[in-house]
Amino acid sequence: MPRARALLPLAATLAIGAAGLLLGVPRAGSTLRSRPRQRAPFNPDAHLRGMRIAEPTRFRSRSVYLVLILLLLIGTGIYAGYQVKFDQDARIRATALTMGDPDLGRRLAKRYGCAGCHNIPGVPGAQGMVGPSLQGFAARVYIGGVATNSPDTLIQWIENPRSIDPKTAMPVTGISRAEARHVAAYLYTLQ
Ligand code: HEC
Repeated sequence: MPRARALLPLAATLAIGAAGLLLGVPRAGSTLRSRPRQRAPFNPDAHLRGMRIAEPTRFRSRSVYLVLILLLLIGTGIYAGYQVKFDQDARIRATALTMGDPDLGRRLAKRYGCAGCHNIPGVPGAQGMVGPSLQGFAARVYIGGVATNSPDTLIQWIENPRSIDPKTAMPVTGISRAEARHVAAYLYTLQ
């Protein structure tokens, strides 16, 4: 009897082991005994066929660039539009002030040597440093520092500066009054 009692834990262990085996074997056996099912080699194309795969990062970054380029183009367009409008307004104002032709005046400024003594924006090669720059002339308050800047005075100055300031260094260039009117028109487009 004492021997049997000593064997009890062993018997219990065996019983639990046997029970575990009985419960576990069918599952374990199914994988161990039968040959593992042969799986077809993984084919990503077949796997993905018919699936719609979004490409979020690439698509999004490309559209961000597109939007930026579009905004840039729109911005440039608006800026150019304003610039054209600004120039047109300046030309209309200059023409109304002088009754001259700014385009003709720009060419005359070259022909009569104004470009040799003055820096005149828009006139090719007009980089002269003898006289003051005529950039932004429309906003200039005085002509030659002596006469108020008005269309009539400017036309007179261009035709004969010494009739306004006898001591001025600017010479009479031989330009006619009619031509001086066109040059004045051009100078008033310079904002
Ligand atoms: C030989 C050089 C010379 C030539 C050529 C010349 N200028 Fe001048 N111009 C001057 C000088 C110098 C002054 C400054 C005069 C002063 O302040 O008394 C001046 C002043 C002026 C001014 C007044 C500028 C200001 O800010 O007060 C205007 C406008 C002007 N010139 C237009 C013309 C035009 C238009 C022509 C061509 C028809 C012309 N000039 C040809 C030398 C020249």
